[in-house]
Amino acid sequence: MSVRICCSEGGAITANDTILEQISRDDLRRIYTDGLATIGEAADLAALEAVRVRFLGRKAELVLLLRSISELPPQERPEVGKVGNLVRKALEDTVEAKRAELESRELVQALGSDQIDVTLPGRRLPLGHLHLITQTQREIEDIFLAMGYDIADGPEVETDYYNFEALNTPADHPARSLQDTFFVTDTVVLRTHTSPVEVRTMEKQRPPVRIIAPGKVYRRDSDATHTPMFHQVEGLVVDRDITLADLKGTLETFTRAMFGADRKVRLRAHFFPFTEPSVEVDVSCMACDGAGCRLCKRTGWLEILGAGMTDPNVFGFVDYDPEEYTGFAFGMGVERIAMLKYGVNDLRLFFENDLRFLRQF
Ligand code: DAH
Repeated sequence: MSVRICCSEGGAITANDTILEQISRDDLRRIYTDGLATIGEAADLAALEAVRVRFLGRKAELVLLLRSISELPPQERPEVGKVGNLVRKALEDTVEAKRAELESRELVQALGSDQIDVTLPGRRLPLGHLHLITQTQREIEDIFLAMGYDIADGPEVETDYYNFEALNTPADHPARSLQDTFFVTDTVVLRTHTSPVEVRTMEKQRPPVRIIAPGKVYRRDSDATHTPMFHQVEGLVVDRDITLADLKGTLETFTRAMFGADRKVRLRAHFFPFTEPSVEVDVSCMACDGAGCRLCKRTGWLEILGAGMTDPNVFGFVDYDPEEYTGFAFGMGVERIAMLKYGVNDLRLFFENDLRFLRQF
């Protein structure tokens, strides 16, 4: 008959009948049955190791008994030697069986808690979009690209020569005023407009020229309608027989593509050092269709850009013969175009990065 020793979580450990039958000593019987019971109760590997040390370690009762066998009365020695070793072997085997059982249980638990469910749907990264200024700049670019223009580029830190001098803006011109321009050194500035790209392009290229130059510009200005940095798109066309009518037609095409087919364009005489004649260009108000409203200050017109026929003096700086070539140029503010097109009434909204504003576009 086998004796059921215990019924721990890991399942009962049963004493072996053939071993029990051979044990006549109380101490061996107690060590055997206590050992099996305690091993059976070990809840984890650390507890099992403690049990192993207690019953099978160097100072365990059984081990000490086996070591002192020579001190026992001779008639007891065979039983202690033979049965004691049987008990030790049985306990060792039981510890190993229990260890294997605990290890596999811990593995199953770890697999259960660490598992990754690859069938769960992924977490979407929030997808942003281009800033309204970039969107508007690209819209402008696309319209001119469709008309056959190339895109030109120039530095934002610019020399006095390109920003002013070669644009027919002499040293005493008010546009050079300390109040308007960020000076890096006496002769280096943050470009105050994209017009210097006109000069840089003409230096590198013979006519025909047909470019736009989008980019950042800088002015010492800051209030509800001015920011120290803003964006412009410059335009330049130079070839034989270019006239003011070409300028007007080009700007009408642009304006209708940007603001709608019903928009009208008008040119008003103005002054820029680098164009002669110079004009300011208005578009009929899209809010009231020219009838007059708050947006257009009751005039029916909104100013959208400056333009003109390239001044022959500018051609002189780049060795273009003004008898052979004529050209037109224009420059527009991207923020202003975006405000008019999308009904934004405060320039500062473009630079505050408030997502509640940006997400609307
Ligand atoms: N550069 C001028 C400005 O920043 C805008 C401008 C006017 C550009 C007339 C031009 C032009 O090319 O012809 O105010």
